[in-house]
Amino acid sequence: MIKNDLLLKALRGETVERPPVWMMRQAGRYLPDFMKLKEKYDFFTRCRTPELATEITVMPIRQVGPDAAILFSDILVIPQAMNIEVEMKPGVGPWLPNPVRTMEGVNQVNVPDVHEELQYVFDAIRMTKKELNDEVPLIGFAGSPWTILCYTVQGQGSKNFDLAKKFCFSNPEAAHILLQKITDTTIAYLKAKVQAGVDVVQLFDSWGGMLSPVDYQTFSWQYMQQIIDALKDEVPVIAYGKGCWFALKEMSESGAAALGVDWTCSARNARYLSGGRITLQGNFDPARLYSSPSDIRKMVNQMINEFGKDAYIANLGHGILPDIPVENARAFVDAVKEYRPA
Ligand code: CP3
Repeated sequence: MIKNDLLLKALRGETVERPPVWMMRQAGRYLPDFMKLKEKYDFFTRCRTPELATEITVMPIRQVGPDAAILFSDILVIPQAMNIEVEMKPGVGPWLPNPVRTMEGVNQVNVPDVHEELQYVFDAIRMTKKELNDEVPLIGFAGSPWTILCYTVQGQGSKNFDLAKKFCFSNPEAAHILLQKITDTTIAYLKAKVQAGVDVVQLFDSWGGMLSPVDYQTFSWQYMQQIIDALKDEVPVIAYGKGCWFALKEMSESGAAALGVDWTCSARNARYLSGGRITLQGNFDPARLYSSPSDIRKMVNQMINEFGKDAYIANLGHGILPDIPVENARAFVDAVKEYRPA
């Protein structure tokens, strides 16, 4: 039994005294202790060493106090496990020296045995669960197949993922084979994460908003739906799509337990588009955390009043920015914890 089960209650749509709160990318660069570890160990060493992944996962729980932990890892361990080289270049971010841009490239991509390639993730989950001692739930995650394709084809981060889109529209057959391989790997991976002990999973469709509503169905949503179908009876699934407000209706009928929304969609619109049926998560603009702690408190109260305290998970609309003062992150979390309905 998890002692603080607010997140699990909210995911079931149960009445709560206040909403649960966590922050996307909460285990990261705005924490001084994280930066110390970053000086000593490169990114994938931190991911691959269960002791380090555990320490980083638990860090924000002890120092900032959210109601859930999210495993320290990265969405790009999936292409890595599929025989695609991925580096994390300091100052650049993800760097894939051999991007996949042809059918021959797609043919070289494996659907691996996740227990062989990604055992370090499952070991980190078991160790983290022990360390958390059932205080709060542990969230596991994966990128959406579309978002993984974006990096796999583009070879690095991008403002518009033009090469990824070019690949999809000029060679749709190869794109769909690649998307299906990523989907199959992701399903096996998330099932193994559940087996190892995660209590919730979140799918990050960080670049879904790059697609038109119709193309979103074709290149992203149908694969997200396959993953949700495969997981939903084992674990609550949170589907987060950045810039994907236009798909909230389909998403709300998908079997996902909750939908993540960003700050470009108002609470009212998000409730309307999702038919009021489903738990919503979000949507504080991460840049708003540059405000003073007292302003953050006011804005958080307003956000909760707009979403309503039930069927709601307080969160940012995207990942926390690296130069946010820890006390501002704490003000965000504390404001939710101190919330009482008017
Ligand atoms: O709370 C957490 O931080 C949990 C762990 C986590 C990381 N990445 C660690 C990380 C999670 C959930 C992710 C998800 C992720 N990774 C996404 C989806 C979420 C989102 O923000 O849209 C994406 C698109 C990636 C790919 C990725 N990894 C990028 C673009 C970068 C570099 C840019 C950046 O933000 O620094 C990374 C590196 C990365 N992943 C870092 C961390 C803490 C920073 C680099 C480092 O620590 O050396």
